[in-house]
Amino acid sequence: MARPLATIKWGMFASSPGKKHESKKALYAELVEQANALFEGEHDFIANAANLSALLFHSLPDLNWAGFYFMKEEGLVLGPFQGKPACVRIAVGKGVCGTAAQQRQTVVVPDVQKFPGHIACDSASKSEIVVPLIRFDRVIGVLDLDSPNLSRFDEEDRRGLEALADVFLNATDVGD
Ligand code: SME
Repeated sequence: MARPLATIKWGMFASSPGKKHESKKALYAELVEQANALFEGEHDFIANAANLSALLFHSLPDLNWAGFYFMKEEGLVLGPFQGKPACVRIAVGKGVCGTAAQQRQTVVVPDVQKFPGHIACDSASKSEIVVPLIRFDRVIGVLDLDSPNLSRFDEEDRRGLEALADVFLNATDVGD
């Protein structure tokens, strides 16, 4: 049975110097556990993508968008997400999402205004991280998180979100 959503916020620990990193790691470890619990016995990719976007949006602080784009023949197409309505189609190589899909690696953007070709869906977004979803050597989509704060995402977020993307890919039938 699914456990309650994470309530840890690493800001709670930020007053102790040196604890911030440890606490963000602990938050992601808890989110991995909760994602595993949410996906238990469930392989449907829309259901699992919807639940993971909700888990992330309501558990990670300082986000204004969290969700998926999935690869179709013509490029990336919007999937389940939390946040304001977003652009539906993104060509591979375009924007932060298309760049992460093309490069097959996570892209961390501290300031979206300085990223050439950034696609602005919500004018509140100031920084962004996009993790490619790679299954059997094929990019099947991306996980995209936006923040209203500059430099919101760091290496710990990259590691944590890549781990969560793996949990999603291993639990979910993505059509292979
Ligand atoms: N900013 C993204 C577009 C998707 S939205 O942020 C939800 C990009 O440049 O690819």
